[in-house]
Amino acid sequence: MTTSTILVTGGTGTLGRLVVPLLRDAGREVRVLSRREREREGGGGVAYVTGDLLKDEGVEAAVEGAGVVLHLAGGAKGDDVATRNLVRAARAAGVGHLVYISVIGADTVPLSYFRAKLEAERAVAESGLPWTTLRAAQFHDLALKVVTAMGKLPVVPAPGGVRWQPVDAREVAARLVELALGEPAGAVPDLAGPEVYELAELSRGYLRAAGKRRPMLPVRVPGGLGRAYRAGENLNLDGAVRGRRTWEGFLAERVGRGVERAGGR
Ligand SMILES: NC(=O)c1ccc[n+]([C@@H]2O[C@H](COP(=O)([O-])OP(=O)(O)OC[C@H]3O[C@@H](n4cnc5c(N)ncnc54)[C@H](OP(=O)(O)O)[C@@H]3O)[C@@H](O)[C@H]2O)c1
Repeated sequence: MTTSTILVTGGTGTLGRLVVPLLRDAGREVRVLSRREREREGGGGVAYVTGDLLKDEGVEAAVEGAGVVLHLAGGAKGDDVATRNLVRAARAAGVGHLVYISVIGADTVPLSYFRAKLEAERAVAESGLPWTTLRAAQFHDLALKVVTAMGKLPVVPAPGGVRWQPVDAREVAARLVELALGEPAGAVPDLAGPEVYELAELSRGYLRAAGKRRPMLPVRVPGGLGRAYRAGENLNLDGAVRGRRTWEGFLAERVGRGVERAGGR
C-alpha cells in the first residue's frame, strides 16, 4: 500500500463528504476536485483543486502526484464523458489505483444515466490502470429526495412492481475507503441495502415518519423501463453484499419520528 495523496472526485457530494473524513482518519492526505472555487487548503489535511471533469478543465493538475484516485463525481448526465477525461489524465500521470463507484443495474436498466455509468465502468476497466469498481444500490438519501418530492403532491404515485433496495451512503463510503486503501481488485461484489421495498412502501414509511397523510394512486411504468423494473433488473437479489442500516433507521434519524416497517415483506 502506498501512502501518497488520494484524489477524491465528487468529494463535496453526498457520498464524497462521508469518504473524505474516513480517509483522513486513516492518515491519508486528501485532495478534492470540485467545480467551485474553494480555499486551496481546506484545513485538516484536505486540499481543494478547482476543475470540471465534463469540460476537461483542471483535471491534469488534479491528478498530478496522486497515487490513488477515488472517482465519485457524478451527475444525471455525462458520467461516461467525465470518466473518460479523468482516465486520460490519470493514465498520463501514472496513477497507481483508480477506484470507481457505479450503480447496480448499469448493464440492464434502460435509462441514459445507467448507460453512461456502464460506459464509465468500461473506460475504467479498459484504462490500462490498476482499478476497482463497486456497484451500489440507490442511497437512502436519494430515496428520501424522491419520496419527499412525491409527498408534496396531493396524491402520491405508487408505481406497481418498482422495487428498490436502498443502502446507507455511510456504508458505501466505508467500503470504498477499504477498497481505496487495499489492492486493486477489479469488479468487486455489489453493495445493496438490507431490505427490498416497493417504491410505494418507501413512500409510506416516509409519510408515517413525517406525520403526513396522503392518498396513494397505483400507476404503471410503461415501456421497456417498466418491464426492466418489474423484472427486478435494478436489483441484485442474490449476488449483492447487504448493508446493515435500514430505511426505517435512516428515516428515524432524518425525519425525526421513530418508525418501524409495517407488516412483513
Ligand atoms: N445517489 C445514489 O443513490 C447513487 C447510487 C449508486 C451510485 N451512485 C454514484 O455515486 C456517485 C456520488 O453520488 P452522490 O449522490 O454523492 O452525488 P452528488 O451528491 O450529486 O454529488 C455529485 C458530486 O460530483 C461532483 N461533480 C459533478 N459534476 C462534476 C464535474 N463536471 N466535474 C467535477 N465534479 C463534478 C460534484 O462536485 P461540485 O459540485 O463540488 O463540483 C459533487 O461532489 C455518483 O457517481 C453516482 O452516480 C449514486
